[in-house]
Amino acid sequence: MAKPVSRFVCQHCGAAYSKWIGRCEACGEWNTLVEEAVEARPGAPRAGSAKRVAFVGLQGGAAPPPREMVGIAELDRVLGGGFVPASVVLVGGDPGIGKSTLMLQAAATLARAGKRVRYVSGEESIDQIRLRARRLGLEDAALELAAAINVRDIAAALEGERDLGLVVIDSIQTMWLDTVESAPGSVSQVRAAGFELIRLAKARGFALVLVGHVTKEGAIAGPRVLEHMVDAVLYFEGDRGHQFRILRAVKNRFGATDEIGVFEMTEAGLAEVPNPSALFLAERRGNIAGSAVFAGLEGTRPVLVEVQALLAPNSGGSPRRSVVGWDSGRLAMLLAVLDSRAGLRLSGSDVYLNVAGGLRVNEPAADLAVAAALASAATETPASPGLVYFGEVGLSGEVRQVAQAEARLKEAQKLGFASACLPRRVGGRKLLAPEGLRLEEIGHLTDLVAAFTGKRAAAN
Ligand code: TYD
Ligand code: MG
Repeated sequence: MAKPVSRFVCQHCGAAYSKWIGRCEACGEWNTLVEEAVEARPGAPRAGSAKRVAFVGLQGGAAPPPREMVGIAELDRVLGGGFVPASVVLVGGDPGIGKSTLMLQAAATLARAGKRVRYVSGEESIDQIRLRARRLGLEDAALELAAAINVRDIAAALEGERDLGLVVIDSIQTMWLDTVESAPGSVSQVRAAGFELIRLAKARGFALVLVGHVTKEGAIAGPRVLEHMVDAVLYFEGDRGHQFRILRAVKNRFGATDEIGVFEMTEAGLAEVPNPSALFLAERRGNIAGSAVFAGLEGTRPVLVEVQALLAPNSGGSPRRSVVGWDSGRLAMLLAVLDSRAGLRLSGSDVYLNVAGGLRVNEPAADLAVAAALASAATETPASPGLVYFGEVGLSGEVRQVAQAEARLKEAQKLGFASACLPRRVGGRKLLAPEGLRLEEIGHLTDLVAAFTGKRAAAN
């Protein structure tokens, strides 16, 4: 009999080693290796037992089955138009961010629409889920609930079913397969349990949602190993201090990956935010230096957000650069460009930058709005309250074109903005700006800084 073997598996990235080491060589994390028993190795394939794989052409086959629209527009958009039958979605996020709440709302809404939906919780008791459903006003939905963690039992309950629309597993870290020796939540368990459930979803044709907790660093620990096995990975993010929650697709085989859904956590669960710009700008105070409105784009949707900059005199030592909601490397670059190309010296100041509302902006198009907030703070001159900014800034201080200018302008006008500061057009198609919106096209950061210094001189 072969002697039992164990291996050491990194709980962060899933890399396996034959002996313990302090630092994972694959991902560089410290102290993440845990000893796990090796899963029973399938015997060597017997000669003659293989069935030949049949190959077919590109054409033919049935039309794909219709998607299951949930009826929660913010979720449907991120999914790429609802759930695809027989597909698997991993929903990740920090504990307490609202994953269970959102999935219960989605499951109950689908059940109300007459679909068969099963919700398996390994974290909460039936009573707890019922209590939450009552609080959310969803107790009348014909949802099938179970509190279970044994994947074999769950599989047995799902095996015979043919008309299931959606199954939610909350969470994959609590699931446990008795053929694998390690504890629930370990990489081996998550992988094996995930594989078993995914196999069932594909075989039975139901959409499957696996909920997974994320570590503080932002990686789905454990469930990370599932990322390549599932069809879509959605992250539910947001500050616990803010009521906004953003659902973001980071992988989607059936839709775009840059879409976001915006929700607000309320007493009655997660409410959709159909117009996030209005919400992100709700608390903006006009006429304050160091603030500029960025006309951004999240997926197909324009979103206006306020960028705030604060400069404080540095009291010795290297100056502080503190950034919330934007990339700190990008800020460093922009400060250097403002300094050497536009003569705006900020090297003696501590710089604090904040994207108000808790949204994380990833677009280079935000450069111009950040530069405007910095120039406004440095000159102690407020930007015009009815002005939005967008444009990428290059290393020589030039302001560069960005995608979808028209969508951004339209959103700005919709929200009552009177003018927009944007990159100067060089040839190409004419910009179809909404009527009544004044355009200030600029080619270089010096134009931006000059606008602030000029405004300041005029005020004095
Ligand atoms: P939950 O969905 O349990 O988070 P997760 O599954 O991601 O761990 O959400 C928990 C938080 O949401 C909790 O702190 C309370 C809050 N909440 C509300 O504010 N309103 C509600 O209606 C519900 C159900 C929860
Ligand atoms: Mg939960």
